[in-house]
Amino acid sequence: MSVQTRPRRVSVTQIQARKGGDKLVCLTAYTASVARHLDQEVDLLLVGDSLAMTVYGFDSTLPVTLDMMIAHGAAVVRVTEHALVTVDLPFGSYQASPEQAFHAAARVLAETGCAAVKLEGGEEMAETVAFLARRGVPVMGHVGLTPQAVNALGGYRSRGHAEGERDKIMRDGVAIAEAGAFSLVIEGTAESLARELTQAVRVPTIGIGGSPACDGQLLVVDDMLGLFAEFTPKFVKRYRELGEEIRMAARDYAADVRHGRFPAAEHTYPAPRRPKPAAAE
Ligand code: KIV
Repeated sequence: MSVQTRPRRVSVTQIQARKGGDKLVCLTAYTASVARHLDQEVDLLLVGDSLAMTVYGFDSTLPVTLDMMIAHGAAVVRVTEHALVTVDLPFGSYQASPEQAFHAAARVLAETGCAAVKLEGGEEMAETVAFLARRGVPVMGHVGLTPQAVNALGGYRSRGHAEGERDKIMRDGVAIAEAGAFSLVIEGTAESLARELTQAVRVPTIGIGGSPACDGQLLVVDDMLGLFAEFTPKFVKRYRELGEEIRMAARDYAADVRHGRFPAAEHTYPAPRRPKPAAAE
């Protein structure tokens, strides 16, 4: 009998154990073609609802549906084998009640094969996080700048600079961690707030515009590759300019087609050789 030795994915408990240890490396991924390239380089891939903006061209994350998240989550899980895959619960799929959240999370886990879900919100979502965690759903929390609340927050500005807001975000993060989240994304906050929150909670924090003191870092892959050019938040570092690469490749292709240089002989199928007709007697 042969023993199958499939490489094991990073698990939720391994992520939890990294609190205060080696930094967690996280990126978003939405498609099979990109996820394949990221998988071995990172600890965690987030199928974020930011795909509403990066993949679908919406101007907020609000229009994305549970079915869309499931389709992208399944594609990312299908082609990866190393990173822990977490899928965002989209706006409207979990805020109404813990039961609604459980139904959405159960669909995501069952239909994508991912290991965890992420949801946005603070104290008001703590009961839901506890409800899910008690039922075997690993939950990543998300506090600070929470894009699903863009209408209530009045835009995508960084948060936690004024004392009242700072205290509220601290309470939010602590409530979500204590409710049983296995990790906590801190997005777009004053650096000192993300640092203090990281010290205050027992679960790893993952900063995106948070603090170098967070236990890990996350970037939206289209931002760091220079693919999403609509706006670049202060916290983004662009590691490549793939948008420009794509434009140049399209320009070269167009010139080749227009000047008859593509397709060349090596790109076409030659006609099969016909057997020689037998010589007439
Ligand atoms: O959807 C997403 O990509 C996210 C990150 C920005 C945290 O939620």
